[in-house]
Amino acid sequence: MITRRPRRNRSSEAIRSMIRETHLSVDHLVFPLFTLDGKNIKSEVPSLPGIFRMSPDNILREVEECLKLNLNKFIVFPAVDEKFKDKTATYSYSKENFYLKLATDIKKRFPEVCLISDVAMDPYSIDGHDGLVEKGIVHNDKTLPILAKMAVAQAEAGFDILGPSDMMDGRIGYIREALDIEGHTDTGVMAYTAKYASGLYGPFRDALDSAPREGDDIPKDKKTYQMDPANKQEALLEAMLDAEEGADFLMVKPALHYLDVIQILKTNFEIPIAAYHVSGECAMLLAACKNGWLDYNRMMPETLLAIRRAGADVIITYFAKDYAKQVLTGI
Ligand code: PBG
Repeated sequence: MITRRPRRNRSSEAIRSMIRETHLSVDHLVFPLFTLDGKNIKSEVPSLPGIFRMSPDNILREVEECLKLNLNKFIVFPAVDEKFKDKTATYSYSKENFYLKLATDIKKRFPEVCLISDVAMDPYSIDGHDGLVEKGIVHNDKTLPILAKMAVAQAEAGFDILGPSDMMDGRIGYIREALDIEGHTDTGVMAYTAKYASGLYGPFRDALDSAPREGDDIPKDKKTYQMDPANKQEALLEAMLDAEEGADFLMVKPALHYLDVIQILKTNFEIPIAAYHVSGECAMLLAACKNGWLDYNRMMPETLLAIRRAGADVIITYFAKDYAKQVLTGI
């Protein structure tokens, strides 16, 4: 006789929903937006079908559309014209910066949205690195004041939460202090805590044209600051430091290949855990679905649910809008 039969609790949707352990809602999702200067521009990222680079006017329309789907959290990334790039990313905190103006416009028109920024030099750097490149190395401590200026400018522009994605040591504390001194004590910091030197960022770098540049004095990859994909213990060290330095969220990036890291951070810290389901992860699934090999309407929610199950409170994903539509239409 089989006394214990787990299948009993799967016998109807009503029962299954009663014992469901993990829930996914649009509330958990953040939608990335790529913006570029100009008017009436909407160009698809070839390696990320369905995702567009948009000029500010179209970004405002996009935000409005997403709000109708109950999606109200956005992380915004700028694609910067080559002529504004330099060694020290000065355009990142310039009063003329269209990205900062856009943030102000979004918050003015839609004060209810949560707007997250990107703090890193790569969109603005002629070297295509997240930090200052000097004599062939990415200089940690000389990068910090640049990040702090960028962060303060973003807080002033109206971003609710800042997202340092650069992986310099000590930057969370440095940025926190700079914000507090300028009176931005309520602006949050979502630390890219365990950001791995992953091959999955390709479509993103295509979208922003932000890959490391070729040159004798430019490191060809980001391995001296992003984490080694082989390491998990080290993520705890990074998390401890970011927590001590005042981070409001700890992020793991990418997500699917690093579910164990999400879980270990969730188990060990009280701070909310964010996971960045990055461009390459989405591209892989989209490619398989385009071929008819996988069903997008099933795989997309299953993928996001897996990231939630591992322990992510927040998921940054290019699928956010599709998920929000699915919830509304029930498809
Ligand atoms: C860089 C940054 C990257 C992403 C977010 N911020 C790329 C990189 O580190 O080279 C990648 C996100 C994605 O692939 O979706 N500051």
